[in-house]
Amino acid sequence: MVIAVSGKGGTGKTTLAALVVRYLTRAREVPLLAVDADPNSTLADKLGLRVERTIGDLREDALKSKYDAPAGTPRQQTIEYQVQQAVAEGAGFDLLVMGRGEGPGCYCSVNNMLRTFLADLSSGYRHVVIDNEAGIEHLSRRTDDKVDVMLVVGDGTPAGLKSAQRIAELTTSLELVRDRTWLVLNRVDDAGKTAREAAATTGLPLAGCVPVDPRIQDFELRGEPLLGMPEDSAAVMAISQMLRSIQKET
Ligand SMILES: Nc1ncnc2c1ncn2[C@@H]1O[C@H](COP(=O)(O)OP(=O)(O)O)[C@@H](O)[C@H]1O
Ligand SMILES: [Mg+2]
Repeated sequence: MVIAVSGKGGTGKTTLAALVVRYLTRAREVPLLAVDADPNSTLADKLGLRVERTIGDLREDALKSKYDAPAGTPRQQTIEYQVQQAVAEGAGFDLLVMGRGEGPGCYCSVNNMLRTFLADLSSGYRHVVIDNEAGIEHLSRRTDDKVDVMLVVGDGTPAGLKSAQRIAELTTSLELVRDRTWLVLNRVDDAGKTAREAAATTGLPLAGCVPVDPRIQDFELRGEPLLGMPEDSAAVMAISQMLRSIQKET
C-alpha cells in the first residue's frame, strides 16, 4: 500500500509519517520504503537515519552530465545505480530522500528515467510511506505513481480544516489517489466532539484524531528518533488505531 501524508506546514506531517513507519515496521508489515518528499523536511532525523545523497543531488549531477562518461556504460545504468545508492537502510525499512527541487534546465530525460527507476524501486516494497511537501503546489506537478491512501493532516480549527479540504479536493481532481483521501486531526483529543463535528463539515472521512503528546516533544528535544516511542504513548496508540481502521477499509 502506498500511503502519502499531506497538509499545511507545521501540521505534523513528518511526525505522523514517522509514526506510521514505526507502526508498520513493528507490525512486521515489511519491507517498507519511507520517502521524504519535502525539501525542508526532517523525516530522516525522526527515523534516526543519516542520508548522504538525495535524488535531487543525483538529478543535478545527471543534468551536468557527470554520469555521461565511462565508455560502454549507458547513462541509464549509471542513474539506476545511483538511485540504489541513494537508498538508506534502517531497521526493517529503507529511506529515500528526494531533496531539493529542480533548478532551471531541461530535466525531461533525467526525470523520465528517474520515474521508471523509482517505480521499479517502490514495487519491491510491501508498503511505501511518503512525507509530502507542505501545501498543494507540488501536488499538481506530481507525475509519478498514484498513491492508495492519502492522509491529509489538519488541526481542528476552521482555517486548518478548510486548508485540508482544499488539498483533498485537489488530490481528487488530479486523480492522485486510488483508494481514499482521509482527514487526520492532529493535536486534537479524540474526545473532542466539537472538532469531530467540524471535521464532518469537510465531507472527508475522518481517519482519526492524534492528541498532543508531550513525549513527541521530549523525543524531539533529545534528538531521538520517534521509532523508539513507547507503545503506551497517546500518539502511538492513536496512530495504531487509525491504521488498523484504514487497513480494514482499504
Ligand atoms: N501530536 C503531537 N503532539 C505533540 N507535538 C507534536 C504533535 N504533532 C506534531 N508535533 C510537533 O509539532 C512540530 C511540527 O511537526 P512536524 O511533523 O514537523 O510538521 P510538518 O511536517 O507538517 O511541518 C514538531 O515540533 C513536532 O514535534
Ligand atoms: Mg515536515
